[in-house]
Amino acid sequence: MIIAVDGPAASGKGTIARALARHYGLPHMDTGLLYRAAALNLLRMGLEPESEFAAARACDIDQIDLGDPDLRSEAAGSVASRISAFPLVRQALIERQRHFAALPGGAVLDGRDIGTVIAPNAQAKLFVTATDEVRARRRWEELRAAGLDARLEDVLADIRARDQRDSARSAAPLRPAEDAERIDTSTLPVEAAIAAAIAAVERRRPSA
Ligand code: C5P
Repeated sequence: MIIAVDGPAASGKGTIARALARHYGLPHMDTGLLYRAAALNLLRMGLEPESEFAAARACDIDQIDLGDPDLRSEAAGSVASRISAFPLVRQALIERQRHFAALPGGAVLDGRDIGTVIAPNAQAKLFVTATDEVRARRRWEELRAAGLDARLEDVLADIRARDQRDSARSAAPLRPAEDAERIDTSTLPVEAAIAAAIAAVERRRPSA
């Protein structure tokens, strides 16, 4: 079974995707990490994020350790959201994701375009949302827990800018697949959000 989990930044999709992978014993791919790896590569190579060709060159990410803590930085996230609008970048990273989705026992992938572009054939598709304010506060709390000093207003502005770029781009924009089940995590505790996700997958699961 392929499970596609899409949604905007800090919506809770990563937590839900990891929990679903554990619950169903499936491998999980956080596809945002691939875009972040390309962004980090580009920053380290000193290339221009405005150039589609430079960004496409940075997609050779084999030498990037996907556990590198720098991938989680705001700088990597912000450059990732800029270069992910380039068709050449999306094309360079698509194969890796489709290959993962096609693993024989199935897989869980989270991102922005899993249910629409990467795995439109997924049996279960979730679109995870939360209000801008709730998502900004979550991200701000994560940054503070990591010892980073950030202002809540700045984090909110960054989240809104990123949502705008992800939704407005013409290449694989962030949008729910027609057959996706929506989960709004704004007022849900983590365990309740996970339970809602499992219930949604169960409704879609092919009967064995
Ligand atoms: O999910 P995360 O914040 O790590 O993703 C970083 C950026 O990568 C997003 O803002 C988005 O622009 C891009 N991305 C994408 N398609 C995906 C996953 C991430 O365009 N499937």
